[in-house]
Amino acid sequence: TALAQANATAFAMEFVPRISRAQVMDALSSQANLAGYRAVIEAAYAYGKGFPMMMTAAGTVAPAKVFIMGVGVAGLQAIATARRLGAVVTATDVRPATKEQVESLGAKFLAVEDEEFRNAQTAGGYAKPMSPEYQAKQAALTGEHIKKQDIVITTALIPGRAAPVLVSAAQVATMKPGSVLIDLAVEAGGNVEGAKVGEVVTTANGVSIVGHANLPGRIASDASALYAKNLVAFVGLMIVDGALALDLEDEILKASAVTHGGAVVHEGVRG
Ligand code: NAI
Repeated sequence: TALAQANATAFAMEFVPRISRAQVMDALSSQANLAGYRAVIEAAYAYGKGFPMMMTAAGTVAPAKVFIMGVGVAGLQAIATARRLGAVVTATDVRPATKEQVESLGAKFLAVEDEEFRNAQTAGGYAKPMSPEYQAKQAALTGEHIKKQDIVITTALIPGRAAPVLVSAAQVATMKPGSVLIDLAVEAGGNVEGAKVGEVVTTANGVSIVGHANLPGRIASDASALYAKNLVAFVGLMIVDGALALDLEDEILKASAVTHGGAVVHEGVRG
């Protein structure tokens, strides 16, 4: 509102549309990718054991079992990173398109694949909020699986809404002592019951729930470099022959403008 009163034209990078011309400006993707990587590094740090299977003269170290819940940009990078470290990786999502992506990264896909699942992806490529019936079936399936996992990384978001709760406190209580949950959705309300923003919570059964805020900030140099590239490309849309030339009919600028001409112009922002 202050920006509108100041008659400023303000833009929000998170509203840049996900069209191919705008990929170089897609800050949500550049940062989510790094967050997915960093989540695995944080998990490895919090977990007292190793990730890869090691067969040594002194005995065999079992591979860590890692379960990724939510396979968008962050989840895909988390799968790839955990695989590179040698973990046995499984993943779930409600969008059918993710099944092939998970399998192509060498992980196993697990989901309730019913009629609702087959229609869970919006035209924009995002997930829809699922019905209470689906969520109950999903919780029953994943609950059995979570019991056996060493690491669970959650990344599930639904644009414009609170993050879905995917792991209940009762499910956390079934996990082995020393297990780790990393909740990337903690700032949007959290996927894991009991996760707290900016804290590592240790439960009564010895499970760590990691709720770090701003995971890209924990890989700051790369995060800044990629975000700077996003910004330079975005600002480039406003420059013609070295001079500022704001064309609000440009699809990308139009979609990401928040204030213009003394008013809040973005429907996703309250004035
Ligand atoms: P996001 O950050 O909004 O959500 C993360 C993941 O959580 C999504 O895969 C979503 O399906 C999943 N999820 C939501 N509810 C769930 C539930 N109840 N259980 C399990 N999983 C649940 O997603 P992100 O990373 O922004 O990606 C969204 C889509 O946009 C993807 O299809 C991605 O490939 C696409 N995309 C397209 C781009 C382009 O064309 N330029 C660039 C980046 C992403």
